Amino acid sequence: MKESSEDTSPSKVELDANSALAMEEYRSGVVSIKSKPKMVTVETTGVCNLACVMCSHGLDEPREYIHLPEELAAKLRPVIGGAQIVQLHGLGEPLMNKAFWTMLAMTHDQQYVAINTNGILVNKANADRLIASSLSEICFSLDAATPETYRKIRGADFATVLNAIRYVVEEKRKIGKEKPFVHMNMTLMRENIEEAPAFVRLAHELGAQKVMMWHMNSIPMERKWQVARDGWVFDYHQQHLSRHADLSNRMIRRSIAEAKRLGIELELDWAKQVFFDEENDASEQQSAPLAPSTLEAAPDNSTPSPKDCNAPWTWMLVQTNGEVQPCCFGPCNHLGSLWTSDVEAIWNGPAFRRLRENILADRVDHACAGGTCKFVAGRPASHDVEHPTRAAAGRVARRAVTFSKSVVRGAVGEGAWARIRSLYRGLRLRLGQILL
Ligand SMILES: C[S@@+](CC[C@H](N)C(=O)[O-])C[C@H]1O[C@@H](n2cnc3c(N)ncnc32)[C@H](O)[C@@H]1O
Ligand code: SF4
Repeated sequence: MKESSEDTSPSKVELDANSALAMEEYRSGVVSIKSKPKMVTVETTGVCNLACVMCSHGLDEPREYIHLPEELAAKLRPVIGGAQIVQLHGLGEPLMNKAFWTMLAMTHDQQYVAINTNGILVNKANADRLIASSLSEICFSLDAATPETYRKIRGADFATVLNAIRYVVEEKRKIGKEKPFVHMNMTLMRENIEEAPAFVRLAHELGAQKVMMWHMNSIPMERKWQVARDGWVFDYHQQHLSRHADLSNRMIRRSIAEAKRLGIELELDWAKQVFFDEENDASEQQSAPLAPSTLEAAPDNSTPSPKDCNAPWTWMLVQTNGEVQPCCFGPCNHLGSLWTSDVEAIWNGPAFRRLRENILADRVDHACAGGTCKFVAGRPASHDVEHPTRAAAGRVARRAVTFSKSVVRGAVGEGAWARIRSLYRGLRLRLGQILL
């Protein structure tokens, strides 16, 4: 329902119709589309007030961290106002950029608007502003259930964030406002995994609506990632819970049970493997991220391929430097810059149209090559393998490998298959160590 006759923001019915149109355009192969992005993610800032050990701010990589400038934020009004889902966070702390408030003011109550925050700047004044806004969800990143572990990982004062959460919960209750929903999240690692069940209890005590947990990303440079802090050394590779499968699985199961007992929702990340193979504690387990809920998954019995991805019809991601991408999975997939074009021109510009054409033809666009999503992971850009004979041979070879695997698996049984996989991973690990 619109709030007043002067309110020009789309109604819920209009937003639903836009999402349905986007899917219709994807299914019927339209590349110059009438629908607007269903989901818009804006990396509000790369700047942060903390330096968490598992984040690139903690590693202090020599990279440029910048705010999304106000003048670019202003250019996003047409897509921010028209999306069903708006996310206003990226690699930094969203509340550090004034343009965050400008973009938040572009949103309205018919949308689902979300931020992740470290909570340090959620003082009374900012909390009141957030509660009064159209924000649907504020997700506090804590990563710990005790002040000691919180300080190790996040290097800040636990009580400051707990007080911010208490204030938001209490203030909403006082004024009878349901939103923003308060969520608390934990990026899981060896250092904090034993606190996971207690984290669920803490969230329940504080009155949060939901707990979210996800594993640290698997990244190519994790073996070189070490951060020394207060006599402790954070070693990314060793902290990754695929190396502590048994403990990780146990703690996650215990957290699920605890959440069930307390009646609080626990969401485990859709994008990653949650439980690891316990026979293979020290293995290099990796899994490509799956599609977020806005994307339709491929049928279970098929290997996902580019044609199964609808992101270029539904999702727009804007980086702090004004470059526009179709999703968050590719390393360098810019499709236009807000410095030189309007957002609507980019959405239906040559790069987006070419990407949609390639997807419909089941080809890996250059914008997606090197991406970690399940649709393209491990495949080169199709322009490099585009010759029809080679492409067909590639398809036949992939089908043959999939078929042979299923035959061997059926013949040897599940137990032997698990041991073969474990041996294979061990070999791959050793080979990786030799090559590194
Ligand atoms: C990059 S932060 C940005 C927003 C805000 N500064 C915060 O801390 O919530 C978003 C989320 O990414 C998580 N994160 C940071 N480094 C990560 C990593 N290496 N793997 C997985 N998640 C990570 C953080 O714990 C946080 O919940
Ligand atoms: S608060 Fe968020 S952005 Fe800042 S260092 Fe921590 S995880 Fe990274």
